[in-house]
Parts: sequence; structure tokens; C-alpha cells
Amino acid sequence: MSTTIYNLNTQSESTRSRALLFVSPLAAMIYPLPLIGFHACVTVAANAVGSPTWLAWFAASILLLLAFMLPLASILSAMRLSAIQTPTKAELLARRIAFLSVASPPLFTLVGVIFYMLGMSDLDKWVLAVFWGALAIVIAYCDDHTQLTPPPKLAEANLRISHGIVATGILLIFLGFHLANHFFGLIGPEAHTSVMKALRHIYRAPFIEPVLLAGFLFLIISGFYLAWQLTNKATDRFRTFQVAAGVFLLFFIISHINASLVFARVYLGIDPGWGFATGAPTGLIHDAWNIRLLPYYWLGVFLVLSHLASGARAVMLAHGKQKKLADGVMIGGAAVSALASTLILLGMCGLRLHFV
Ligand code: HEM
Repeated sequence: MSTTIYNLNTQSESTRSRALLFVSPLAAMIYPLPLIGFHACVTVAANAVGSPTWLAWFAASILLLLAFMLPLASILSAMRLSAIQTPTKAELLARRIAFLSVASPPLFTLVGVIFYMLGMSDLDKWVLAVFWGALAIVIAYCDDHTQLTPPPKLAEANLRISHGIVATGILLIFLGFHLANHFFGLIGPEAHTSVMKALRHIYRAPFIEPVLLAGFLFLIISGFYLAWQLTNKATDRFRTFQVAAGVFLLFFIISHINASLVFARVYLGIDPGWGFATGAPTGLIHDAWNIRLLPYYWLGVFLVLSHLASGARAVMLAHGKQKKLADGVMIGGAAVSALASTLILLGMCGLRLHFV
């Protein structure tokens, strides 16, 4: 692996700030609030009779934007903490918590589904607030004086290569089709469902589905190990983004498989499809619970595709390609991912294309 990936703009001691250590747990702690506010505003807009609703919709848009900004704040804080070459124990802990807090959207969905199944739906936000608050307290009491020497060894090359090969295999046998399927929502639920039924002959085949799930399990375990190793050392912004996307996906995959296999198929006894994914009949926008699925799905599609683009950048650098070209592939890949994600979510929120 080329060392250029790890050659960094390191953070000077003078730019270190103690407040930075608490940005991400606090961002994760308040993450549900803008979504609660969004629901309150759209309810006001929906129930307003004869009075203008633009103010409520404007406030709702700002709050939704804020819900996206909070995980972004965690990524930015992970980037700054990852630039420190010789972190203190508190800085290393805060760096790892910053990566974890990027996953606040899938954690909110995962904990929400688990508490729903336990019949304690209202407790999810409180449990998460206590969890993030406790992490902030642990950082506050952690040693912020002793500087750690970075370990000389990077994550095993063989494991990184196996992780990349399995991810590419899953992209080819499942993920590419699964995401392409969601574009059909722009035509309508029927089109989405008929494509899904055709594709299920492949990925739900008795000999493919267990292999697929085992592949995802391997990605989760190896991804966790790689993230742990890579966050030990200072890294550049590109690599930090790649690891942050990976940590998000780790919890997204656990949450998503729990929702579609355990919650839908076992707990509710239904076959999850378009209606389940879009929170029918209320939909994603107008339901107090379902609104959490909007940033969750958008970031899920965006980060899975951008994570693959980041992997392509790392492979290009390792094979001696120009840094400018490799960076361009990643940035271009992220832009395409954002567009794909937006189109899928517009379809899920009701936008329809009509062909004449
Ligand atoms: C807008 C985004 C997404 C939506 C709406 C969505 C929706 C769904 C639905 C409805 C199912 C159950 C239907 C079926 O299995 O045929 C499902 C299954 C699944 N999805 Fe997604 N998905 C999305 C993104 C993703 C992403 C980004 C990943 C991977 C990182 C993923 C991984 C999976 C897996 C592993 C299954 C289980 C497949 C099986 O064995 O049946 N999904 N998804």
C-alpha cells in the first residue's frame, strides 16, 4: 500500500481544542430533535386550513437539513481528530467516538425498531441520549495529557484486500441490482415490485441468500477490525471519509437486515417490499416514526456508493496512479452517489416520472 494515503496535513498542537472532543457525541445526542421538529412543522402545515403554510414548510426544510448536518459535523470532527499524529488518550477515544457518531442515523433506526418490538417505542430517544451523554462524560474524564506513540503497523494488507474483494462480489451479485431496483420507484410501486420479484429469483435463491448474508457478516466483522486498526493512526481526509462511511454502513447493514429479516419477516410475518420500505400508508414525510428513514436511506445509498469509490481511490494509489486522478475518481463517485441517492429518495417520497 502506498504511504501517500497516510501522509497527512497533520494538526498543529496549537489548533487542538478541548471542545472538539465533545462535538460528535453531542451532535449524535441531539440527532433525533430536528426530526421531531420536522414532524411538528409538517403536521402544522398539513392541518392548516385557509392560512399560508410556507413558513411551516420552510422551518421543516431547515430542520431536515439540520438532521443531515449533524452526522456531517461528526465526519468533520473525525477528520480534525484524525489529523493529530500523537493524540492523547482522550483525543484517541474522542476520535473513535466521532467515527461511531457518524452512525447516529442507523443507530436511531436500529434502536427504534428494537424498542418497538419490545413494546417500548417512546424510550428509544432517551436510551440513545443517555448512551451518547455517557460517552461524552467518559471523554471528559479520560487522560488528556499523556500523548500516545502511534503504532508502527497498519491494518493487514490481506484483510483489506479480502474486504475489498467480498464488497465487490456483493456489489455484483446483489447491491447493484438492489439499488437499481429502487430507481423503479420513480415509475411507481408496481414497477418497483415487479422488478424486485424478478431479482429475488437470484438473491433469495436458497443457495445464494445464505452466501450473501455470510458475505455481509464478513464485511461487518472485517470492517470493524479495519476501522479499529485504522483509527489508531493519523490519516488524511479521504481515508477518514472512507472509514467513517464504513462505520456508518456497519450499523446500516445490521439495522437494515434486522428490519427486513427479523422485524418484517419474523416479527410482523410480512414480506417486506415497497410498502414496508416507504412506511405506507402514511409515507416517509408525514409519520413521526418514519421520518427517521429519510436521512437513514439517503445516507445509506450515498455512503455505500462513496465507500466503494473511496476503495477504488485506495486501489489506484496502491497501483501507482496519479493522486489527482485517484482523488478525482473518488470525488466524482461521491457526486454520482449523491445524485443516485436523491433520485431514489424522491421516488420513495412520491415523485413519479411519466413516459409518453
Ligand atoms: C433506499 C435504500 C434502500 C431501500 C429502500 C431498501 C429496501 C429493502 C427492502 C424492502 C428489502 C426487503 C426486500 C427483499 O429482500 O427483496 C431489502 C433487503 C435487503 N437490503 Fe436493502 N434497501 C436499501 C438500501 C440498501 C443498502 C445500501 C444495502 C447494503 C449496504 C442494502 C442491503 C440489503 C440486504 C442485505 C437485504 C436482505 C436481502 C435478502 O436476503 O432478502 N439495502 N432492502
